[in-house]
Amino acid sequence: MSGWSHRHVLDLASFSVEDFGTVLELAQRFRSLPVAGARKLPALQGRLMTSLFFEPSTRTRSSFEIAAKRLSAEVQSFSPSSSSLSKGESLLDTARTYVAMGANILVVRHRCAGVPRSLARDLDRCGEQVSVLNAGDGLHSHPSQGLLDLFTLARHFTPEAPSPASLRGRRIVIVGDVLHSRVARSNLWALTGCGADVVLCGPPTLLPECFADFVAAPPPGQSTDPVARRGRVQVTRRLEEALPGADAVMTLRLQKERMEQHLLTSLDTYHRRYGLSHARLALCADGVPVLHPGPVNRGVEIAGELLDDPGRCLVEAQVRNGIPIRMALLYLLAAS
Ligand code: NCD
Repeated sequence: MSGWSHRHVLDLASFSVEDFGTVLELAQRFRSLPVAGARKLPALQGRLMTSLFFEPSTRTRSSFEIAAKRLSAEVQSFSPSSSSLSKGESLLDTARTYVAMGANILVVRHRCAGVPRSLARDLDRCGEQVSVLNAGDGLHSHPSQGLLDLFTLARHFTPEAPSPASLRGRRIVIVGDVLHSRVARSNLWALTGCGADVVLCGPPTLLPECFADFVAAPPPGQSTDPVARRGRVQVTRRLEEALPGADAVMTLRLQKERMEQHLLTSLDTYHRRYGLSHARLALCADGVPVLHPGPVNRGVEIAGELLDDPGRCLVEAQVRNGIPIRMALLYLLAAS
């Protein structure tokens, strides 16, 4: 693929507009191919994808595995509790064991930020020919989710030709627990990278003011920003201020498992101030879509009726689009 230079996919801060375009274009092609069931594409024949998940997952892990199988790759899963990690083996030695068994791509999820990056660096240093794909690390990054959200939005705005230009000048609102969300962080890089303006909305305990500067400088370890002109980021506490003029609204799960202190008075108060419902959406134009990365706390960040309304809610499309997006990433890494 012309211009694609990533050997690993660790975050979206290192993606150029061309990179986003390449992934969206390939995903659109894979999406339109009848590849379910027995009809597979031969692109990854003879390759092995190993998923190493140290945190629970429903969507991401299955979606990667389906994507790999649709490209004819072999798939292998590792479960930490029954592995030699419990006997003291290091993560690097575990990964090298899988590489020795033939793994070409390692899909890694870990509760600590930075683990996929340090694993990729250590494997490179050992001279291993393997790509690392970050499937979510702590609060840091979840690139495949950011890309599938980008694809879902781009397809919503321009169904036949989703591209970074589909997002330019759009106002995308992200509501909720931004502080604990690696999905929000990846979306910030992806959406502003394609020229969308992002409005973040939530209480101060879950959305520190400094998020307004999130994409102002390249992240640590990166000297330049690969995107020349990003969209803007704005922070507001009031949904009434965020929603008017929105082109799409994304809400996030309250990540109770990552909250170390009491950051909310009550779930009821939270729902009243920040929960999405049909009534709340009356503040934006008719037909403005709602996204949620899942898993969902029904009745907390989003009302059940809104979640179940296919005319308004794109959650199912997000899940479906995850497969062609992950096929595109696996294809690009195998080709590089
Ligand atoms: C997210 C995750 O794990 O970061 N889910 C996902 O991958 N679809 C978001 C979450 O856990 O709330």
